[in-house]
Amino acid sequence: MTRHAAGIPVEDLTPDQAAAELAWLAEEIRRHDRLYHQDAAPEISDADYDALRRRNEAIEARFGGLVRPDSPSARVGAAPATGFAKVRHKVPMLSLGNAFDAGDVAEFLARIRRFLGLGETDDLAVMAEPKIDGVSASLRYERGRFVRGATRGDGSTGEDITANLRTIADLPVTLPVNVPGGVPGGVPGGVPEVLEVRGEVYMRRDEFRKLNARQEAAGDKVFANPRNAAAGSLRQLDATVTAGRPLHFFAYAWGEVAAPLGATMEEARARLAGWGFALNEPARLCRSLEELLAYHEEIMAERPALPYDIDGVVYKVDRLDWQERLGFVSRAPRWAVAHKFPAEQARTVLNAIEIQVGRTGALTPVARLEPITVGGVVVSNATLHNEDEIARKDVRVGDTVIVQRAGDVIPQVVQVVKDKRPKGAKAYKFPDHCPKCHSHAVREEGEAVRRCTGGLICPAQAVERLKHFVSRDAFDIEGLGAKQIEAFWQDEMIQRPGDIFRLKASAEEITAREGWGEQSVANLLAAVEARRRIGLDRFIYALGIRQVGQATARLLAKTYVSFLAFARDMQRAEDRDSEEHQALENIDGIGPKVAAMIIDFFAEPHNIDVVADLNNEVQPQDFEAPATESPVAGKTVVFTGSLETMTR
Ligand code: IVH
Repeated sequence: MTRHAAGIPVEDLTPDQAAAELAWLAEEIRRHDRLYHQDAAPEISDADYDALRRRNEAIEARFGGLVRPDSPSARVGAAPATGFAKVRHKVPMLSLGNAFDAGDVAEFLARIRRFLGLGETDDLAVMAEPKIDGVSASLRYERGRFVRGATRGDGSTGEDITANLRTIADLPVTLPVNVPGGVPGGVPGGVPEVLEVRGEVYMRRDEFRKLNARQEAAGDKVFANPRNAAAGSLRQLDATVTAGRPLHFFAYAWGEVAAPLGATMEEARARLAGWGFALNEPARLCRSLEELLAYHEEIMAERPALPYDIDGVVYKVDRLDWQERLGFVSRAPRWAVAHKFPAEQARTVLNAIEIQVGRTGALTPVARLEPITVGGVVVSNATLHNEDEIARKDVRVGDTVIVQRAGDVIPQVVQVVKDKRPKGAKAYKFPDHCPKCHSHAVREEGEAVRRCTGGLICPAQAVERLKHFVSRDAFDIEGLGAKQIEAFWQDEMIQRPGDIFRLKASAEEITAREGWGEQSVANLLAAVEARRRIGLDRFIYALGIRQVGQATARLLAKTYVSFLAFARDMQRAEDRDSEEHQALENIDGIGPKVAAMIIDFFAEPHNIDVVADLNNEVQPQDFEAPATESPVAGKTVVFTGSLETMTR
């Protein structure tokens, strides 16, 4: 879908344009939510994301009748990814509305006064706290014991990450149930029977840098910023991995509680602190717009010195009974708002555009800049996001550009200063070949990124592809994990999958390496030998064709039975009018997009080479449907009771 009406002021949109853009925005925001919440790999900055949401809200405000049932304004975040159990939040976990300037903050206060029927001079106390840039979590305590922890998910259903949260050192596992009134305003008997504490899991900047250095040394994924690192660390299915990550927790709100935490935010904060929770500091109780704005200024000035990332401050009505009365509108409370910090910007000259190739083959344009200080940090590179963004901003080599550093660590080029453009600067043409391996670089329909199709032969991707190849659900070779692949790749012992099966020739060389001995090398070679015969489904999965996960691989194995038939038909399927093409698209569970990926894979000569080389070494076994595919296979099943649409 294209964004037909992009750039037209909301006042000038026709209803048709508005409807088309709302549809585009719904999908685009959903995609960014997924990238941010589920993949922890956002493509755009928070500021750009906020701009999309604001545009959506502005169009909806003008065209009330066009608000879509799947409107992003009624939704927070993304539904949980699979792998963790689901947890329903009895009290939804909501997001916050944003204020960007003094006017927005004044409006926030005015709305509260109107809603509560307060006069100009009536006291309205507001608690201000730093807004920490991490991942929100909800911790459930029953009788003072931590029993369950969950992510926000889509606000009403999150994921059960209890085991991961337990590994966080500053998260209290038991609370002092029977310490009567140990804190100002404390209730006798300590914590309520049921207490859900909500807050942010985050990583400090210094720890983030150290983690990334470790990850890089081990050949593992490096994170773009501390927030992504925190999100990625929390989403580990194996909690022992989380345990090795330096995570912290700040409490700032609560969900279900069996007894009130006090009459005000101030009391509730004191109570939480007394129970051992770390809170966002410095917090301040403010009594006017001026005090709030002064607080915002002060925190902004302190920001670079803080050990963790903050992206603004949060204002919350202090009186809890008022919070209750104010309630919520769609995804955000009326009683709170996030006052964001403006991004830090500077002007400089763009010297070159370089294309980097990521481990998944994504081509990312990077601006090489005349070094410049932005908010106290020297910046010489900035992201240009993708092809469309370069075209939209019309960025050219030699241009003077505005660079912005937002909360995250990757600066971006936000705008070109057009009247400074040197004569003869040419429009940038995005390459359609990979700069690393010269394979075709293609864009899938509906995707913003162009990707290298080189796969296993592209040096930028090969290591990741090889790691996938030996992973548990693929070839699953004991003793040959990500670390070993990385090392053998470095030493050029393994460059492509077939090489794994020729490792025997390097046995001596491996034995001489640190950490290896004769026995372990013998074990490794035996494990390799054991995998020369492999199920067709695993074989197909191991190839790492985009969009072909385990389920699809299995479906393909089941349909084509032998590898020869599969490879032959996929090559023939390149002809859109062929029977083989039809047959592939007709497989229940394989859509045109996935079909195109498979066909593309087999259309690249270098993929054929790699597969042929591999096939000289291994024998994928024809698919045999296990007799017990279904739990009722071979059994006579008798229905008792009745069915809605069929008789027995
Ligand atoms: S209060 C009903 N206070 O920012 C929502 N949120 O952009 C109550 N956040 O979802 C949230 N620091 O994950 C609150 N001091 C703070 C916060 C904070 C960070 C997060 C939170 C929220 C998001 C909204």
